[in-house]
Amino acid sequence: MGSAVVVGNFIIAQPTSGVFHAYSTVCPHQGAKVDIVEGATVRCPKHNSVFDIEDGSVIEGPARDPLHPADLSAEGTTLTAS
Ligand code: FES
Repeated sequence: MGSAVVVGNFIIAQPTSGVFHAYSTVCPHQGAKVDIVEGATVRCPKHNSVFDIEDGSVIEGPARDPLHPADLSAEGTTLTAS
């Protein structure tokens, strides 16, 4: 099972071992900060939308749009999101 961490304005997710995705923490619903990590999902504290860390898709509304992806680059053991 994957996991994620919130670092600054980004959600850095590792849905499966060695695979990383990054998303903006800005909720696509009304812009609150999505910062509650629950296993392989992340939750927005404002209206409780839940998103899949695999692809940012909505699991539970009210949000209708997925999380905004962020660019992620790796250099050695350092990941940089932008
Ligand atoms: S602002 Fe995130 S669910 Fe409404």
